[in-house]
Amino acid sequence: MKAFVTGGTSNLGQAICIDLKKNGFEVFATFANNEVRAQEISAKYGITFYHLDVCDESEVKKVFSLLPPLDLLVNNSGVCSSNKQVNLTLNEFNSVVKINTTGVFLCCKYAIPKIVKGGSIINISSINASVSLCKRTAHFDASKGFVTAYTRSLAAELGENRIRVNAVAPGLLKTPYTEEKEDPVKEVFVKRAIIKRTVEPEEIADAVMFLNNNHAITGQIINVDCGYLVG
Ligand SMILES: NC(=O)c1ccc[n+]([C@@H]2O[C@H](COP(=O)([O-])OP(=O)(O)OC[C@H]3O[C@@H](n4cnc5c(N)ncnc54)[C@H](OP(=O)(O)O)[C@@H]3O)[C@@H](O)[C@H]2O)c1
Repeated sequence: MKAFVTGGTSNLGQAICIDLKKNGFEVFATFANNEVRAQEISAKYGITFYHLDVCDESEVKKVFSLLPPLDLLVNNSGVCSSNKQVNLTLNEFNSVVKINTTGVFLCCKYAIPKIVKGGSIINISSINASVSLCKRTAHFDASKGFVTAYTRSLAAELGENRIRVNAVAPGLLKTPYTEEKEDPVKEVFVKRAIIKRTVEPEEIADAVMFLNNNHAITGQIINVDCGYLVG
């Protein structure tokens, strides 16, 4: 089985790649800026990395032309910025929204002809598609709302191709950054979450594996958020 993961250099992307490897997949992944990290992960876990800006159609087209037929695409690349909308520059807005929306579209567009019947696409959304976590990320939250709606509608469209499309919506992830003592977003998250902690990247990787393995599930968004949304 073969999987392609965008943003394999991120905390979450790395966890997903490692889990796929453990489960017998040949894994192809991408980096955008962090070539050093990509080389480290590649050497340690035997993952093949390509440079990819998910907003650059010609590069997306080229990378997918180099790939073998795929069983799984994970659209994990995504960026966030925190700012009041009144202070947000158009460049900042466009940068976040383009990577999180256009990037998902382009990777799906060029992956679809490569995905084998019975294969799947899993998009990484966010609980921010459903709730405002820190009141400073309306542009990011809306971009993840796109991912949620796109997942449902693409699942409907690709039923005839026998390709399933699902999404995982993480709550706040445990990262070196969130482990710093003074993170106000972490405080807000942990206070409301039923399970009083952040989410381990490996727990999102588990959900990705579950969605890929269960062939009766399509068009679903699974919130993996320590119960934040119902807290
Ligand atoms: N962290 C959280 O608490 C959280 C919560 C909910 C959802 N999520 C979602 O989970 C996913 C991973 O999050 P993360 O926090 O682990 O990410 P991260 O550490 O912030 O890393 C961002 C990833 O996106 C890649 N990237 C940046 N610009 C790109 C571009 N133009 N084209 C292609 N790739 C690009 C980066 O590659 P380089 O490293 O090479 O630059 C990196 O792999 C994202 O979709 C994010 O929105 C995260």
